[in-house]
Amino acid sequence: MKFRAIMGALCAAGLLCGVSAVQAAESIEVLHWWTSGGESKAVGVLKDDMTKEGYTWKDFAVAGGAGAAAMTALKTQVISGNAPSAAQIKGPLIQEWAAQGVLVPIDASAGDWKKNLPPEIDKIMHADGHYVAAPFSVHRVNWLYINKAALDKAGGKAPTTWPEFFALADKMKAAGIQPIAMGGQPWQDLTLWEDVVLSQGADFYKKALVDLDEKTLTSDKMLSVFDTVRKIQGYFDAGRTGRDWNLATAMVINGKAGMQFMGDWAKGEFANAGKKSGVDYVCAAVPGTEKAYTFNVDSFVFFQQKGQKSATPGQLALAKTIMSPGFQEQFSLYKGSIPVRLGVSMDKFDDCAKKSYADEQVAIKSGGYVPSLAHGMAQPDAAAGAISDVVTKFMNSQEDSKTAVAALAKAAKTK
Ligand code: GAL
Repeated sequence: MKFRAIMGALCAAGLLCGVSAVQAAESIEVLHWWTSGGESKAVGVLKDDMTKEGYTWKDFAVAGGAGAAAMTALKTQVISGNAPSAAQIKGPLIQEWAAQGVLVPIDASAGDWKKNLPPEIDKIMHADGHYVAAPFSVHRVNWLYINKAALDKAGGKAPTTWPEFFALADKMKAAGIQPIAMGGQPWQDLTLWEDVVLSQGADFYKKALVDLDEKTLTSDKMLSVFDTVRKIQGYFDAGRTGRDWNLATAMVINGKAGMQFMGDWAKGEFANAGKKSGVDYVCAAVPGTEKAYTFNVDSFVFFQQKGQKSATPGQLALAKTIMSPGFQEQFSLYKGSIPVRLGVSMDKFDDCAKKSYADEQVAIKSGGYVPSLAHGMAQPDAAAGAISDVVTKFMNSQEDSKTAVAALAKAAKTK
């Protein structure tokens, strides 16, 4: 570090400007939305690794779970000609940005990626036959987190069906515990709704939210999805409007509420608060979804920089670091996810992460491995946004399920 700093200073003074000194001075601006306790600890690992490699990390964090505000900021930056070096983009949005001609390929860093990534995820990292994105980890979305003391007080068993879930929620209520901690943003509504869609079976989920099959979208099963969501809402507290996801997680951590429906980035919050799975909290698959797995894979894309035709040394180093085994392990330990790179040891991970890994393997084989709609993995932005609007309208009004189902079928046609 010291040596590089000296070389950088010499170069700036117009002396001894070798290639390594120029590279060492490269500043990498990184746009992301990882601002909660667990999230910032996880992205901090990347910052530290890149700093150790001699690059200057310029943090461009835009708060807001699931990244809606970050995406708005990114558009403004790119339009004004100030694209960051890298940005947190995932799923079909990777190809949408690539189609704008503003990304640079990072193949030079991806020599061994193909054999170290599950094929369905490797595909997502590509555009026009080139790697344009680097994947961090796999988050499972269909989790229910339960405060252990509240669970013990109310019967002691994590629910595996909706009737068991409602029975548990009633017992918590009777014991004076707020049954569900829920946040108040559209993506959180959509996360719960897609959980309930998945509880109707992975095939139903795929037909509805991947194929957007009209018959499935307007089926009686879909009506019952909205009915179940309405019933779950009866166990929310009054203060959810505008609440961030991590504040809802904090309610479960502190015993102010019994349960939260949330992807396993919530586990990063429990870990950050020093809580242990099986002791302080329990992670269970959302009722009825034990054999299925909604995946959410975070990744960075790399933007063409002023005066550069291809990826800069810093961008290539960033991509390489993200996929390195050591980083993959430490990032996921903080983040609550599991490494996306195959073959990384799970020894240091907790029971919930080990269960995530085991369930993932089963789901991949059985056809239950499905992309999360709420987290940008299943549909292009326009269709996902239109469906999200329908769900949020339903959950924030007294609209009946029939009206919502009709609106859903219409929204699914959005191009
Ligand atoms: C998801 C993202 C996760 C986590 C979460 C809450 O969309 O994939 O990494 O950050 O939002 O912010």
